[in-house]
Amino acid sequence: MSGGEFFVQEPSVHAFITEVQAVLERETDVSKRLAILRTPYRKLLEDQSWLPEEFRQINPNSGMGGGIASWLLYQNLEKDLSLFSLVVPPGVTTPIHNHLAWGLVGLYQGEQEEEEFEVEHHDHLHPGDNVRMSRRFLRVLKPGEFYELIPPYNDVHRIKTISAEPSISLHLLANDTGCVVRQKFDAATGRVDAFRSGWSNKPCPEPVADGD
Ligand SMILES: [Fe+2]
Repeated sequence: MSGGEFFVQEPSVHAFITEVQAVLERETDVSKRLAILRTPYRKLLEDQSWLPEEFRQINPNSGMGGGIASWLLYQNLEKDLSLFSLVVPPGVTTPIHNHLAWGLVGLYQGEQEEEEFEVEHHDHLHPGDNVRMSRRFLRVLKPGEFYELIPPYNDVHRIKTISAEPSISLHLLANDTGCVVRQKFDAATGRVDAFRSGWSNKPCPEPVADGD
């Protein structure tokens, strides 16, 4: 049995997390971890049998806006590993945002357009800063396709659902993605703002005030 909190009681999810934890214990290099994790992650992404209906729903009270849901499926005790489904309604675009963690992101349902951005001075961003940013590429993601996230290189993007049904992407990220304070960016001005996306099925602790 793996430690941590499972929100989905499916053998395939338990087996996946057990495998992930074994890899994290024996391998410390992020790119090597990701290379090994691609195979079990692809298997989970291509298996349409395990994700319950409740984790495929949009969320009208979204912290990201636009009805975008972030359903936590598993989190370890240290909160430096989260598996979640991100559900984005048809036609809705996320803010341009970062993640502040390495991981794997892939499409489980629907179709997405993803724009990746290059951001200058990516470290030590503060709300109100203006950064220079440019679009690196735009691509379409179909079910079963996935990519590695390795900050700071490719940490900033926005996604839009271009299918008639909501898109669902499966995220395995090495932080408490819903509760960490991260950044969103205005494409026109480069303005940086802090935000927390929240989890749709778990409250976040109160943020620690500056100076504490
Ligand atoms: Fe994202």
